[in-house]
Amino acid sequence: MVESLRQSTPAEREQWIRDASYNLFNLRSEQVFIDLLTDSGTGAMSDRQWGAIMTGDESYAGASSYYHLKEAIRDITGFEYFLPTHQGRAAENVLFSVLVKEGDIIPGNAHFDTTKGHIEFRKATAVDCTVDIARNIEAEDPFKGNVDPEKLEQVLKQTPRERLGCIIMTVTNNTAGGQPVSMANLRAARELADKYGVLLIIDSARFAENAYFIKRREEGYADRSIRDIAREMFSYADGMTMSSKKDGIVNIGGFIGFRDKELFRRASTFNIMFEGFVTYGGMAGRDMNALAQGLYEGTGYEYLEARISQVARLGDRIHSAGIPMQRPVGGHAVFIDAGRFLPQIPAEEFPAQRLAVEIYLEGGIRGTEIGTLMADRDPVTRKNRYPELELVRLAVPRRVYTDNHMDYVAEAVKNVWERRQKITRGLAIKWEAPIMRHFTVELGLLS
Ligand code: F0G
Repeated sequence: MVESLRQSTPAEREQWIRDASYNLFNLRSEQVFIDLLTDSGTGAMSDRQWGAIMTGDESYAGASSYYHLKEAIRDITGFEYFLPTHQGRAAENVLFSVLVKEGDIIPGNAHFDTTKGHIEFRKATAVDCTVDIARNIEAEDPFKGNVDPEKLEQVLKQTPRERLGCIIMTVTNNTAGGQPVSMANLRAARELADKYGVLLIIDSARFAENAYFIKRREEGYADRSIRDIAREMFSYADGMTMSSKKDGIVNIGGFIGFRDKELFRRASTFNIMFEGFVTYGGMAGRDMNALAQGLYEGTGYEYLEARISQVARLGDRIHSAGIPMQRPVGGHAVFIDAGRFLPQIPAEEFPAQRLAVEIYLEGGIRGTEIGTLMADRDPVTRKNRYPELELVRLAVPRRVYTDNHMDYVAEAVKNVWERRQKITRGLAIKWEAPIMRHFTVELGLLS
């Protein structure tokens, strides 16, 4: 599918972003030239996926599309049982309805915000045990998404067994900058899960990109296929949640994979309540067909090579101008270090959001803030949480933009860098929601 893009003038963008209360989620897509808000659901489906759409089976129960998807999931992940959901956070909602209760502790390697949201909503606590080097933004470490096994063991040791809901390993680690988790690290997490008798769940949104990095960076995997590597990754887990909108290359969809039939059965009840019957759960038959095809395309080596190289191209161009950013470049996005880009703006004035707004004003490019706004308030004290890093994420949709578009983005970011000293103030919150505020927050520009 090809779509036209619309350019705009700086004056138009100034008006539009003011009308959007300086929240990039509030912009209309026509007001955006290059949309790097997310790589989620924004990919372009292939001819074969569109073909599969045409042969979708819309039976309420037992549709052939369900079985196509079941086959693909079993083949690629090894999980025998699965439940379709309408997207990744729905998979979290259903699975956590079984696994997470009030007072529980859920350790992992930097939970994504919806994952954390679903944990905190249940009055449980997500504990981030990511390796310290992830916070050393310039360090060229190959697996900065890893969990720190010592930190993880500490949490497992200190927490009574009945309060350990599960361990969640997110691959790639989105919050840490789209950084991969090594196979050795997944194996170590599995050993700890066995030692302390707790379930290990993989948040799999970008599992294929993670497998690509393992193939390219981890000893012993260069000659293994992506699918073979993915299977080994999943072999260390008891279950998975999936946002199919990323590495499934579909516009909507998700699922949960299970090894254990009993856990699958318990989750099925919640799936029927929240999502739909177990053989469609929030997805149309045609969408399940497209996903079955997308899972194969998303795990193709040539595709992954082209996609990840495109993201690296954008990152390398920005980095070569001296702009501080997360290194090495992650799988799906470039993460610019807004804290060092705009050191004159204090964390209370949301420097990463300010930079995201400025990049929009410069080139009509929409990125997203991963900093104090997204970190939200502590659920108990209601005080702002200040993360160590203030980042702007430029996430690249799959199979949508050309390298020429990426070069345009890099030039625009460089232009902002050139005039960074003139940006003296940040933003103030005018209204915010009690949880996951960054999606709907309304802000004002300080002057
Ligand atoms: N897990 C991870 C690691 C994610 O990145 C996301 C979504 C989800 C779970 C939730 O999935 O959106 O299908 O409900 N990430 C998107 C992003 C929104 O922009 O990074 P969902």
